[in-house]
Amino acid sequence: MKKISFLLPLTVLLLASCSSKKQPGGEKQITGYDEPNRPQYHFSPPEKWMNDPNGMVYFEGEYHLFYQYYPDSTVWGPMHWAHAVSTDMVHWQHLPIALYPDSLGYIFSGSVVADTNNTSGLGSPGKTPLVAIFTHHNMKGEKSGRTDFQYQSIAFSLDKGRTWTKYAGNPVIPNPGIKDFRDPKVFWYEPGKKWVLVLAAYDKVMLYQSANLKDWKQMSVFGIPGDKRLWECPDLFPLKDTATGEEKWVLTVSMQQQGPNGGTATSYFVGNFNGEQFTADIKKQKWMDFGTDNYALVTWANIPETDGRRLALGWMSNWQYAQQVPTEKWRSAMTLPRELTLHKNSGDYYIYSLPVKELNSIEDKTSEIFTPAFIANTTLLAEKPGKNLYKLQYTFLKPDTGAIEFRFSNKQNEYLIIGYDAVLKQYYTDRTHSGNTGFNKEFAKKITASTFYNDSTVVFEIYLDHSSAELFADGGKLALTSIHFPSTPYNRIEIIARSGARLLRSSHSELNGIWK
Ligand code: FRU
Repeated sequence: MKKISFLLPLTVLLLASCSSKKQPGGEKQITGYDEPNRPQYHFSPPEKWMNDPNGMVYFEGEYHLFYQYYPDSTVWGPMHWAHAVSTDMVHWQHLPIALYPDSLGYIFSGSVVADTNNTSGLGSPGKTPLVAIFTHHNMKGEKSGRTDFQYQSIAFSLDKGRTWTKYAGNPVIPNPGIKDFRDPKVFWYEPGKKWVLVLAAYDKVMLYQSANLKDWKQMSVFGIPGDKRLWECPDLFPLKDTATGEEKWVLTVSMQQQGPNGGTATSYFVGNFNGEQFTADIKKQKWMDFGTDNYALVTWANIPETDGRRLALGWMSNWQYAQQVPTEKWRSAMTLPRELTLHKNSGDYYIYSLPVKELNSIEDKTSEIFTPAFIANTTLLAEKPGKNLYKLQYTFLKPDTGAIEFRFSNKQNEYLIIGYDAVLKQYYTDRTHSGNTGFNKEFAKKITASTFYNDSTVVFEIYLDHSSAELFADGGKLALTSIHFPSTPYNRIEIIARSGARLLRSSHSELNGIWK
């Protein structure tokens, strides 16, 4: 067996305490983001509860990220929209809370658009309004047993999202008698010169249109006959086939039940949109991510044509256990920002996803490992008291039998396995022994994703942070995102290939934290 030599910098992570910025919910200073299990290069709130990403829009050089936030507790409660901005989707600046609950209700999920032509009339000379379209959730209505307690409202900002005014005519879409009626996502549909809105209506989505973001008319519905699961946080956008340039429309929707590995997960359909109605090519629902922890994924609005990417991120948790995960000061993080692309494979369309290229800026040091190499049994890749933040890219010849596994462990012998099973043709993440798993009986498990294609190689791209691992397999054909809570970060990485594995190439980088 050839021993792989590998050099890692010995730098011990020294997190500078962050400069004085107002954090969501108050005037307190941000601490150093150095608590146990604190994500080092993923977005997480300074403190308290966070769920869905909201209002993602690119405007005048800034990527905006609003998010479902409860400033008074680390469990879900009266929802606000908290706010952060970034120039690269990697380094974030926290801004004050954007939208507070009001007499119409809590502020549930929704979107933001830049109303460049001032169709809403909410702009002022030289100032494009950002318009937020969100769900008001009326708690009193819900408690009194009514069914019409969710409706859609708007707010606008003339100062790059720093301050917001709620529209006096809210709600703009009253409830039509559907108990779950929420999460509006709006986009400008150029062929029809109109705004299109898609929202979740219990077990389906509904589409609306408007000329001015204030007056909305229902156009159509899309659902799967007989499906009784709860649909949430939809998105609808065009994507071009990477090979042929053919344009398709993609409807993403988050499912509250029966994700591919249990609980909540983000799915999608590929089809067409004629300006009024979305139709799926085949009513086959596919999964954006097979991991347990990528929910409410939506895409950024207003990405310039010169960029042309479709960029997304999701909430890196699962409603099965999100409110119990063992973090004390804050709860949950977002996934890495990803680029979504469309590809035809075996006669069907699929979305592939890979982390955005901007993440290259946090790569600390890349060490090439000599290739090719034959790995027999176990090979130690790294064991260092470093930052323990890694990006691994490993390409193997596809083995006929056995498994190839990466084993991430710490001195308490807690470990996470990310592997490929050649017999089952599956990638997997096994977090059964990953550390603290006892907070919910659904947590300790092996998470699997079956390949739907037949490649000659097995390609792992793994991003490891202190409490998450994101696997992008085979160039993004499969994504598998999962969270974990070890007593101390994993500082030892091994490859295990008991039946042997031929490594074709690899690169291995330590990453820098973003909260400096
Ligand atoms: C999805 C969701 C949305 C809702 C929000 C409330 O996670 O349930 O449907 O708007 O969270 O926080």
